[in-house]
Amino acid sequence: MSLFWAHERSVESAFVRWIHLLHWLPITHFFGKQPQPHPFTPAMRICCIGAGYVGGPTMAMIAAKCPHIRVDVVDLNAERIAAWNSDELPIYEPGLDDLVREARGRNLFFSTAVKEGIHAADIIFVSVNTPTKTFGVGAHKAADLRFVESVARTIAEVAENPKIIVEKSTIPVKTAEAIQSILGADSKGLKHQVLSNPEFLAEGTAVKDLSNPDRILIGGEQTEAGLAAVEALVSVYANWVSRDRILTTNLWSSELSKLVANAFLAQRISSINSISALCEKTGADVDEVARAIGSDSRIGPKFLKASVGFGGSCFQKDVLNLVYLCGHFGLPEVAAYWDQVIQMNDWQKHRFAERVLHTLFNTVTGKRIAVLGFAFKKDTNDTRESASIYVCRDLLEERASLSIYDPKVGVPQICKDLGVQPDSPNVEFATSAAQAAAGAHALLILTEWDEFRSLDFEAIYKSMVKPAWVFDGRSLLDHAKLRQIGFKVYSIGKPLPVEANA
Ligand code: UDX
Ligand code: UDX
Repeated sequence: MSLFWAHERSVESAFVRWIHLLHWLPITHFFGKQPQPHPFTPAMRICCIGAGYVGGPTMAMIAAKCPHIRVDVVDLNAERIAAWNSDELPIYEPGLDDLVREARGRNLFFSTAVKEGIHAADIIFVSVNTPTKTFGVGAHKAADLRFVESVARTIAEVAENPKIIVEKSTIPVKTAEAIQSILGADSKGLKHQVLSNPEFLAEGTAVKDLSNPDRILIGGEQTEAGLAAVEALVSVYANWVSRDRILTTNLWSSELSKLVANAFLAQRISSINSISALCEKTGADVDEVARAIGSDSRIGPKFLKASVGFGGSCFQKDVLNLVYLCGHFGLPEVAAYWDQVIQMNDWQKHRFAERVLHTLFNTVTGKRIAVLGFAFKKDTNDTRESASIYVCRDLLEERASLSIYDPKVGVPQICKDLGVQPDSPNVEFATSAAQAAAGAHALLILTEWDEFRSLDFEAIYKSMVKPAWVFDGRSLLDHAKLRQIGFKVYSIGKPLPVEANA
């Protein structure tokens, strides 16, 4: 099916076109009615480039909440697009299947037709990946912007009328300037508007976060055309988010706020993780400390759960990006301050693996170690920067024999992350926690999946080599009960058992 619409599109000024787009909001708002989906001429067309963890769910939500808008999600990866068009979506998110089913084929379309999508769109979201650079200037810190740049060049090549281009990908401050200059370099004389609209959804709760966000942040140029573009995007979100939750700022504040939000969240985790080490030495309990300090309304209770280390595609990447920016702008003291958040996280992951090693009499060579959880957090199949990867690698280096179980992460992904073959002699892939634990010397809880709380630990204990150890990297289980069964237990941030001091 062609993505082009039959009707002629006149090349109006950007301002006039966006003002037209705004007309939809009052109609749907004041009469409380949504236009009928079939057949329909969309009031607006949105194209999202990048059908990943951010682009896919965000567009599914816009399509579900705005049946009068046509949303095309395009991606170079044909396999991923095929999955979005199938019953087996490429990412697991509670509630996402229903959302996609509701809108797909009605006003939500997934395809590889990138150029057609751009050509027909009024608003283009850029949701491609911006990984940390692994080479050259800024290696291991700066964001690799080659995909963002290539998208900007494609837009410049294909667009025949002014577009609103929305940076959804997390990018360094001032990227909008670079995009503008690429867009402005074409000879067509079109004046596109670039907006920053960072996404704050967390994986595992994406649908909930998207349908009821704390805030929507939109940054734009402080000019008449820029403000009109901001208002056009506000009108999309206003279909389901109250206006007082839609914050508008200048471009640079919006771009920077995303990095700062993630840096503050990561910093809280590194802070409580640093205290977890002190708790283990002093006999304090990190969960009690977290509760005590979190009850102070100035501190608040969220993001104070000690863990084996934070993972995910954003925290490390964004903090490193912030560190790089501070260095770039001649602020080495600020850079060093934020860099410590990452160093503490790396230390926490290695510290956990070392604790396992020391406790198991300083050798895990040939010992079967059950790893429960490979995703970077529960309710997602995403393993990017998962603490599990680092702990497993450290243990494999010590020649442990791992049996890994995760409810949602598949064998190919685990193999890729650990650099092993599916028939590796050192890694077994279990289909249940009980199977992973059978014959193991130790059980490691690395992801806080709910199902791990209610395992049959009596049976698991019987099936394990004695002394049977549990290393709880999420402080998830009922440790008193486990000890009653006979387990030896180490948990992040809890007083060290005598045997673990070995
Ligand atoms: C990505 C970024 O990692 C993150 O920084 C940003 O905030 C939002 O976008 P995510 O959606 O999790 O997050 O990335 P990913 O799942 O890797 O999806 C990106 C998609 O873009 C991939 O499917 C990739 O095939 C696609 N892509 C990439 C293109 O379609 N064109 C390109 O030129 C590059
Ligand atoms: C994060 C931000 O929360 C979100 O706003 C942004 O858009 C993307 O990055 P995400 O990475 O999906 O979201 O998950 P999040 O819930 O923030 O967890 C990140 C990591 O921190 C996970 O590994 C999690 O287990 C860990 N974590 C979180 C802790 O160790 N302790 C906590 O108290 C909270």
